[in-house]
Amino acid sequence: MAQPDTRSDAAPLGVDPDWWRQAVVYQVYPRSFADATGDGIGDIPGVTSRVGYLRELGVDAVWLSPFYPSALADGGYDVDDYRNVDPRLGTLDDFDAMVTALHDAGIRVIVDIVPNHSSNRHVWFQEALASPKGSRARDRYVFRDGLGENGELPPSDWQSVFGGPAWEPVGDGQWYLHIFATEQPDLNWADREVRDDFLHTLRFWSDRGVDGFRVDVAHGLAKGLPEVLPSAAELAEIEKLADGTHALWDRDEVHEIYAEWRAVFDEYTPPRTAVAEAWVAASRRARYASADGLGQAFNFDLLEADFDAAQFRDIITFNLEQAAASGSSSTWVLSNHDVVRHATRYGLPARGTGPDRDTVKSGTAWLLSGGTAPVLDEAGGLRKAHAATLVLLGLPGSAYLYQGEELGLQEVADIPAEERQDPTFFRTDGGEIGRDGCRVPIPWTTSGPSFGFGAGGSHLPQPAGFGASSVEAEEGDPASTLSLYRRALALRHELQGAETLEWIDGDGPDVLAFRRPDGWLIVANMGETSIPLPAGEVLLASDPVDGAELPPATTVWMRAAG
Ligand code: GLC
Repeated sequence: MAQPDTRSDAAPLGVDPDWWRQAVVYQVYPRSFADATGDGIGDIPGVTSRVGYLRELGVDAVWLSPFYPSALADGGYDVDDYRNVDPRLGTLDDFDAMVTALHDAGIRVIVDIVPNHSSNRHVWFQEALASPKGSRARDRYVFRDGLGENGELPPSDWQSVFGGPAWEPVGDGQWYLHIFATEQPDLNWADREVRDDFLHTLRFWSDRGVDGFRVDVAHGLAKGLPEVLPSAAELAEIEKLADGTHALWDRDEVHEIYAEWRAVFDEYTPPRTAVAEAWVAASRRARYASADGLGQAFNFDLLEADFDAAQFRDIITFNLEQAAASGSSSTWVLSNHDVVRHATRYGLPARGTGPDRDTVKSGTAWLLSGGTAPVLDEAGGLRKAHAATLVLLGLPGSAYLYQGEELGLQEVADIPAEERQDPTFFRTDGGEIGRDGCRVPIPWTTSGPSFGFGAGGSHLPQPAGFGASSVEAEEGDPASTLSLYRRALALRHELQGAETLEWIDGDGPDVLAFRRPDGWLIVANMGETSIPLPAGEVLLASDPVDGAELPPATTVWMRAAG
């Protein structure tokens, strides 16, 4: 296993409080990144062993999905203990060593914090189960009496996000709320002890040198459950109002919690940062990004859009306005651990022209067929992915990349039912395929038992041809996706702090073109026919550009002539 990279030419981290505004953040899904122990599960020493790779890729920060002790009912988003490392993934000492190695390489560290729910194995939940109705221990969660004579019916007909009922009985007439899996009981954020404990957790990781937090389900913490609960149908209507009155999501009071978090973040130099995962109406996102709160919020708009110039332009314009209004910088995302990889999304039929693009999350007909439905255009999808990525990396704001996208990995469709792990698959009886296909351990070498992921196997099966997309296969190939990402990230460091852009019109509806304040032009041909290449020097092209034409599904970064 390679040693951590300790070369001294990495940029010193410094104390710039704005380091995150234009950062490229690389998401590591620890169990599927690199396995140093050979047990088939990626781990913290595995991340440390790949610091050299991350530095060479040119990322500014790493965001680690949960690595805490967990039964893995939801890939680690069911946390048993917020202030420890899963023993299968390492120790706190391993964590400290990883932070040091990343910092020495000039890379910041962001950890995932999961405040909406704990796991059902958390000491608090075990105490709640062992304690009677009305006890202090039950107050830390959302318990309700069941309906019916003996509480044998759930308090409401609400469904969990992963399918199936959102209430689980505990045997004494009471039920607890779990918006996600049964193993993820929702915490009661009206409880002072819950709030204080998370402040403790934020300090715990900040004291260990963590630079920021990705806040899971940030819009879910504050709940407003009236005596008589609305039905699921009524809730769906209230959700459309997007006015802060929904019982579960995006209530106005949630920002009081984040004001307390901000006070903790500001105890540090530079202040710790945070980015909200908040699936809320676009008009309400800026509240999460406020400087008095978390400071930044994901926008998943590009990830949900088609490969379409008009859609991209509207989304970019809107989000830059939103970011300017909140004082934050925008966030751009095309892939993460919850959605079908973008190289695959773009290779499936466009939304509205087939059943296969209905959702980016799961359940596409192609995935349900195990990848045998003859609809995926892999090469076309990858080409569009390259083009969309160069748009993303050319935009003002911070870019969030997901491990393996820099290799052009496709979603893995043919995972046998008995090897699937995502609760979505089980809670919908396989009706929704779930998110395992983007969580398959990434290939580092062209061959070997798990393509260099580790010395042993792989906790999700890798496809036979994975080696062709490995780091080893791609790093010497100037035409590879990895080479494109490396060049793009290196060039991006030359762009200076600009947070605005100017649209350039006149090339037709399929062309997205803008000029950055530093003078660079970004031109994406998102249509199906070539267009004339604008005058100037091509700095980078998402796929080869010969002569005076910009081919379909191609983006160029240019320095304008003269
Ligand atoms: C977020 C995570 C997702 C997880 C869910 C519940 O959406 O990104 O992976 O399943 O929260 O914690």
